[in-house]
Amino acid sequence: MSRKKIALIGGGQIGSILALLITQKELGDVVILDRPDFSDPMKGKALDIMALRPHGGYDVNLSGTGDYADIEGADVVVVTAGLPRKPGMTRDDLLEINLGIIRDVAENIQQYAPDAFVILTTNPLDAMVYAFYKISGLPKERVAGMAGALDSGRFRAFVSMETGLSSEDVSAIVLGGHGPTMIPLVRTATVGGVPLDALLSKEKIDAIADRTREAGTEVVKLLGNGSAYNSPAASCCEMVEAYLKDKKRVISSAALCEGEYGIDGYFMGVPCVIGSGGVEKILEFEMTAEEQAMLDKTLKAIIDTVKETGL
Ligand code: APR
Repeated sequence: MSRKKIALIGGGQIGSILALLITQKELGDVVILDRPDFSDPMKGKALDIMALRPHGGYDVNLSGTGDYADIEGADVVVVTAGLPRKPGMTRDDLLEINLGIIRDVAENIQQYAPDAFVILTTNPLDAMVYAFYKISGLPKERVAGMAGALDSGRFRAFVSMETGLSSEDVSAIVLGGHGPTMIPLVRTATVGGVPLDALLSKEKIDAIADRTREAGTEVVKLLGNGSAYNSPAASCCEMVEAYLKDKKRVISSAALCEGEYGIDGYFMGVPCVIGSGGVEKILEFEMTAEEQAMLDKTLKAIIDTVKETGL
């Protein structure tokens, strides 16, 4: 059996770490594509990771390019191309520039890798995934935004940090848009099956939810020049692995809702079953009145941003 082919569109901070993580998990051969004028640095990044392989016995190949012909036939494409946030910027501030980039990327993926499962990280996430879906014409099952995996991961990390219990045992999900209106669902969060409110006070739980909503901004402020990249790369890797290994993982992802949670025609963070069919299913469950109000608010924020794309 030949190895799977994974194309990374954008070989910046997230793309570089993702290439490393994919190599360490031997998920497939990696092509790192960036702007044509960055073709040499991409070749350099690929060569650097190729040379690391003997240290871990990793048998996959990496190459760098600025030419879309090299992604031909990719099984998975992860799109991280786009400007990241700087301090003082919201994700929505990136819309105009990143929309132009996504348009170019979508047309090329449609031409060179129309059968791939495509995962996007470019911000403002929910609107950029919507734009990609509209422009590329790919089926909805094969287009997903990586945000919920990251936001849920942050939520789980903060619960682990606060309780001192293993992050492995924390199960928690964040729904909604990838922005300040996201919904860390405290009601269903558990540590080893024990409800969160049996372990932490309401004040502590509220503080964790608030910190989760602002976690990306907290990192942007501290870094001073760019946004988070290690945890986003790990989150993308989780989705790539779930798809390639047909794991049927339940991962919060921005998926096209057509009636689910009362949403029609927009991408939003919902619990998705990720397997060899891509986004195979959106899992639904009853929201409380308070949660439904939060969902309505996050959906409004998504719709407002999508409108700005003019698509
Ligand atoms: N085609 C291919 N690559 C492009 C294009 C394009 N048209 N335009 C920009 N890029 C590349 C840049 O050259 C850069 O190498 O995308 C890469 C983005 O990398 P970084 O600037 O390091 O950004 P990163 O931190 O990886 O974040 C990427 O994900 O989380 C979001 O807000 C973040 O939108 C940003 C994206």
